[in-house]
This record gives sequence, structure tokens and C-alpha cells, in this order.
Amino acid sequence: MSREPFGIYVHWPFCAAKCPYCDFNSHVRSEIDEARWANAIARELRYFAELQGADRPPVETVFFGGGTPSLMRGASVAQVLETIAQLWPVSASMEVTLESNPASADAACFRDYHAAGVNRLSLGVQALDDSALKQLGRLHDVAEAKAALALAMATFERVSLDLIYARPDQSAEQWRAELREALAFGTEHLSLYQLTIEPNTPFATLARNGELVVPTEPAAVELYEITQELTAAAGIPAYEISNHARPGAECRHNLLYWRYGDYAGTGPGAHSRLTLNGERVAFSTERLPERWQGRVESEGHGLAERLEIPCGDAAGEHLLMNLRLAEGMELAPYEQRWSVALNRSSLATLKEQQLLEPDSERVRATPQGRLVLNSLIAALAP
Ligand SMILES: C[S@@+](CC[C@H](N)C(=O)[O-])C[C@H]1O[C@@H](n2cnc3c(N)ncnc32)[C@H](O)[C@@H]1O
Ligand code: SF4
Repeated sequence: MSREPFGIYVHWPFCAAKCPYCDFNSHVRSEIDEARWANAIARELRYFAELQGADRPPVETVFFGGGTPSLMRGASVAQVLETIAQLWPVSASMEVTLESNPASADAACFRDYHAAGVNRLSLGVQALDDSALKQLGRLHDVAEAKAALALAMATFERVSLDLIYARPDQSAEQWRAELREALAFGTEHLSLYQLTIEPNTPFATLARNGELVVPTEPAAVELYEITQELTAAAGIPAYEISNHARPGAECRHNLLYWRYGDYAGTGPGAHSRLTLNGERVAFSTERLPERWQGRVESEGHGLAERLEIPCGDAAGEHLLMNLRLAEGMELAPYEQRWSVALNRSSLATLKEQQLLEPDSERVRATPQGRLVLNSLIAALAP
């Protein structure tokens, strides 16, 4: 039986402070009973494993995301990884990523994560400019971010860093210089996100009141184009809208999402997509940490929703995910899997408009097309 590649996402919902631009499910708490948390994660993982039955797929990737998982103790990370290895076969080449904030990067902790099995660290550097870091509400400065990066590169086989661009007042020349500096660190992977003003964040209020002005649309497009140009020239091109890697160094866990594989997500507000009895099923858990924990302790899981995805919706999701990737999507297997046909005349028009690459076997968005993905999907949808 051919199976979907399978990965596990572990959400750690706590941060030392809430950044004013961020709408991730992250919370600040003065005290966390970490042993109780690790037990709750183990318990919910067991629930997902039992859902998959006796013949469980090997785990190819694990991703500790957040929030700030680098606030976890090494022993908790080890406990979660041991639980996974007890419940599923684990692949010898399993990729295990942990997200880290430079403000909570610590040599002893990094060593413990590595000893527990973490082999890839993703560091939230965000900016290489102290005043920008202050404006972003970060608890670290550039020197601390660089020290954390050096520590990460000395400890882990694979390191990625995150930067946010199209920040208020950021010029094209400033972004060029900052990105050049980031590329010179020599990490194999970079996540370069354009600042999004998320509703109901302090940044949204500031933007509404005119106290925070982000680059105009054409200026942001210029910054995106600079990003494509400099990363490609450095041999670390975009393989997804915001993700860049040396060939072969892509984040396998995120690739699994975008290739529409199966994953179980544990922790508050985590999402899962599992193929159960041939059907694609979506799960999401309670977002509030305490509510999630209470539900896991009383019911064995913190699920808020379970939904069998109708075939048409799954086909749409699959298309949207695959087109985020530079590699795009193989047309024939897609149409066969979902018994659908993409709109051929839209395909031709979008190629003429240079939003799709001219390729008859794959559907691939050009970098320009990836910027207007939603309208591509609307035009192509079966
Ligand atoms: C979970 S955080 C990474 C780990 C850690 N919490 C940190 O911030 O250092 C995921 C990443 O999402 C990005 N991000 C969050 N909110 C964003 C926004 N509104 N616009 C652009 N990027 C954002 C940041 O680059 C951040 O590093
Ligand atoms: S950006 Fe990272 S550290 Fe800041 S609030 Fe969001 S998850 Fe927490």
C-alpha cells in the first residue's frame, strides 16, 4: 500500500513576551507546570496514534513550533521524542526541528535538545538592526541574535533563520544590505517573511491610527523581487513563497504540508490532516492552553473539531498548498487522485500572463504568480 509521508507537529504555546505583530497562538504565563504539559502532549500523541490503528506510518519529520519551544527544558523535548518513538516507527533519517527565540537561546539547553534528537534549529532573528528589533518588540538585540546563531551553528547539523522584511520605513537599499549580511552567515535555509499586519494585534491598531506605515504595495513587490534575486544568486533560492534553501536543504516538515502529506498536530490550536480509511480528515484542537490541557487530562485529547474533508475541498487545498512550492504540482496524478480536471483555458491564459510556467506535465507558479496565488487558484479551481 502506498502511503502519505507522515510528520508530527508539537505546538508549545508559551512566549516570554508577546510581539506586537504576532497573531500566533502564543501566550505569556508566569508559571508553567512543564512536566504536566509534557504528559499532556504524550497523552494526545497516543490518541492520534490509536486513531491510525495498528499499522502506523513511519514518522519522517517532527517540528516543535510555537510560541517559543526554546523555553522548553531539554528533558521535556526528550520525553516527547521518546513518546513518539514508542508509538510510531521512526525513520532513521528523521528530521527534528525546534524553533528558537534568540532571547531564550542557551548553550546547555541547545546541547540537551541535540542530545534528545533535535537535528535542525530554526532561529527567529527577525532583523539585523537594533532599532527595528525594538520596534518589533523583540527581547533581544542584534548582538544576541548573532551569538545565538553562532551557538546554533556549532551545535546543530542544520540551521535556519527567520527575518521579517517590508518593515516600517525599510528602504530597498537597507533590505539589500541586511539580506546580504544574513546570507553571509552561511545557513543552509532562510525563512524571509514579508511583515503582515494581522487583525487584532497592537500593530493593526498602530497602522489604523497612522502611527505605523508599512511599504506601499509596489515597494513591497520590489523588496520581494530583491529577495528572489539575492537568494538565487547566493545559491539558496526560494522553494516556497517565503522559504529559501540550498538544494536538498529544504525543511522536510514544511515540504510535507505543502505536498499535502499527512501530519498529526498536538498542543493548543494545532491542526492535523490524516488519511483515515482512505478519507482525508482535518482536526484542530482547543486554542486556549488551559482548556486544551483540561480536555486532554479528562478525555485523552483536546480536539475542538474533526471534519471529513469533502473531495472537492481537499482538491482545492491540495492545489493551494502545491502551488506555494517552486516545484509546483504534477498535473496527471493530481487529477487522478481527486477525479477532477483543472480549467484548461485558464491554464493557457495564466501561462500567457506569465503567472504560470509553460510546462505541460506540471502546474508551476512563477515568482510573480506566487504573489497572487489566491487569484490563480480561483481561476484554475476544478
Ligand atoms: C513561532 S515564530 C518563531 C520562533 C519564536 N517564537 C520567535 O519569534 O523567535 C515564527 C515566525 O513567524 C514570523 N512571523 C510571525 N508573525 C509575523 C507577521 N505578522 N508578519 C511576518 N512574519 C511573522 C516570524 O519571523 C517568526 O520568526
Ligand atoms: S513572534 Fe515568536 S516570540 Fe513573538 S509572540 Fe510570536 S511566537 Fe512569540
